[in-house]
Amino acid sequence: MGVFFPLNNAMPRKILVTSALPYANGSIHLGHLVEYIQTDIWVRFQKMRGNECWYVCADDTHGTPIMLRAEKEGVTPEALIDRVHGEHARDFAGFGVKFDHYDSTNSPETRQFCELFYQRLKAAGLIETRTIEQFYDPVKAMFLPDRFIKGECPKCGARDQYGDNCEACGAAYTPTELKNPYSAVSGAKPELKHSEHYFFKLSDPRCESFLRQYTRHAEGRLQLEAANKMQEWLGEPGEHKLTDWDISRDAPYFGFEIPDAPGKYFYVWLDAPIGYMGSFKNLCAQKGLDFDDYFKPDSDAELYHFIGKDILYFHALFWPAELAHAGFRTPTSIFAHGFLTVDGAKMSKSRGTFITAESYLQQGLNPEWLRYYFAGKLTNTLEDLDLNLEDFVARVNSDLIGKYVNIASRAAGFISKRFDGKLTEADAGLPALLAITEAAPRVAELYEAREFGKAMREIMALADLANQYVDSVKPWELAKQAGKETELHLACSNSLNLFRLLTALLKPVLPAVAEKAEAFLNIAPLAWADTTTRLPAGHRINAYSHLMIRIDPKQVAALVDANKESMNPPAPAKPAAATTETSTENATLSIDDFMKVDLRVARIVSASPVEGADKLVRLMLDIGEDKPRQVFAGIKSAYDPAALQGRLTVMVANLAPRKMKFGLSEGMVLAASDETGKTGGLYILSPDSGATAGMRIK
Ligand code: MSP
Ligand code: ZN
Repeated sequence: MGVFFPLNNAMPRKILVTSALPYANGSIHLGHLVEYIQTDIWVRFQKMRGNECWYVCADDTHGTPIMLRAEKEGVTPEALIDRVHGEHARDFAGFGVKFDHYDSTNSPETRQFCELFYQRLKAAGLIETRTIEQFYDPVKAMFLPDRFIKGECPKCGARDQYGDNCEACGAAYTPTELKNPYSAVSGAKPELKHSEHYFFKLSDPRCESFLRQYTRHAEGRLQLEAANKMQEWLGEPGEHKLTDWDISRDAPYFGFEIPDAPGKYFYVWLDAPIGYMGSFKNLCAQKGLDFDDYFKPDSDAELYHFIGKDILYFHALFWPAELAHAGFRTPTSIFAHGFLTVDGAKMSKSRGTFITAESYLQQGLNPEWLRYYFAGKLTNTLEDLDLNLEDFVARVNSDLIGKYVNIASRAAGFISKRFDGKLTEADAGLPALLAITEAAPRVAELYEAREFGKAMREIMALADLANQYVDSVKPWELAKQAGKETELHLACSNSLNLFRLLTALLKPVLPAVAEKAEAFLNIAPLAWADTTTRLPAGHRINAYSHLMIRIDPKQVAALVDANKESMNPPAPAKPAAATTETSTENATLSIDDFMKVDLRVARIVSASPVEGADKLVRLMLDIGEDKPRQVFAGIKSAYDPAALQGRLTVMVANLAPRKMKFGLSEGMVLAASDETGKTGGLYILSPDSGATAGMRIK
């Protein structure tokens, strides 16, 4: 193969890249993938350039939601985060997101760094303790994060609003301002309780002056919009807008205990970014890398954090201030991106546009279709980007299949059949070839600047040139004419050289297609420098195999269907308990009458068969009361009792208890079924994820 030209004579750069650590209590969805695909493309590009670039990430495993979720599932937090770690790793691999290391924040390395940060910040006089008043759930015996307190909005009176802001009127407030507050965990009335908390003194003049400098756009660390936002948060000098940051939480908490403060834990957002370092430390041990070389204050390595714009505050204020005052280097840049919408709206479970990574892959859609579509939409700004499903099909089919893959499929067959798989030398002056080689440095700059959308447009314009060439020489016609062997050979060899260069340019976005192309072209993995070279005469290719097929719009429709969570169950929910006297009058019901029914989210603590009753299951249901309630439900035909344990369902809590042969039934669970009962299906209800035992349903 041709000569290897390095594109610049500079020494390879040393680059450490991270994506935000996804929470370990949820599935990866297409919104997340915007970020991981964006980062992966950038990292793959850096590696193709010959830079020493490492990409690390981890699951963000600590905090109250994860602790409660584990409890709800009846497993330990460790078991939950282990399981989710496997799911996340599988989803990322499925989309070609290739970390050099994917860790967990619940790791010894991250714990050590947390303790080190704490010691150093404390020694620098930047940690302070203060007693605060906070809502406490007397039933669960735990302090409640704002998100777990609900009540009536102090401004507009809307019910069931979260402790920090009102979804009805948009007002922001503190949980203590809520009227009739209740714990979203147990439903109990929360009490105000004192507790000592640890604070990172962000208001310290050292932090403020450091951050004023660090966050200036001119420093090149933040995008313009991000820098402007920081200036807003910092306020004018003398305004002292920065407030100290509460970094501790009281037991029970899933996290790292603060070394000299038993019962106090580091707040999850303290250990999460430190998880970047923990993960990298682990990689260093695997690869024999020098950690300090990357994290010492005067390090010549580059450090980049890719994040969503929602977590800018943590990455552009807290994190650099912590690093700077704990004796570490600070990030070279923080690259924030916007949020994904689908068909112009926020992803929605009822519309089926809250699409999980897993379902996309399960439906058999090609992950590189999405990588390409996202690349086409990505810029280096904080602007939101839209996945328009119709446009997705059209763009992938016209660009990837119509413009790119077709070049290879049209030329390869003739080379194999007519020329024993061997190429002739490409035409050195071929304008399309020259154009690609000439454009490659521009495309490189666009990748480097995270202007992937512009890069894709540039590459597709080059693909258009390549297609114009193929259309002008018409290999399929040459192949039918006698005595045109030489022309045909040259036309196909030129085409495959064009295809090879386009493959190199697209490789950061389409790694799997590029690998297949490399196999069929019979070449070593393409590096960026290959954009200046040609395949030599006599090079032998392998038989062409399909690189990528078209999207069928039906596949996208099926994907949306698979992600649709019905908000209107077709059959009305009806009691499935032993008590089946139902009146099916169609008369309307006043809201007051309806409110008399006390519907609760119930956790099935245990489920067991009932001796002497074929149809019944004995359920023990936790609805946040002192002890679980016993309910006999006629659901044995549809459910194996063992499979019900730990599930959440819906129960009528204020039904008069009923004495049965087997014991007292203290309520009723709801299930859907065909009115006639002919189809036999019976489906108990479950609330959406996030609901917890005892929540009132109305
Ligand atoms: N655990 C924190 C990050 C800690 S980093 C030290 C977190 N996790 S997350 O799972 O909620 O989000 C992970 C990343 O995905 C964030 O950067 C977030 O902005 C991004 N996205 C989540 N939903 C998204 C969209 N709908 N669109 C684009 N990015 C999105 O935040
Ligand atoms: Zn309100």
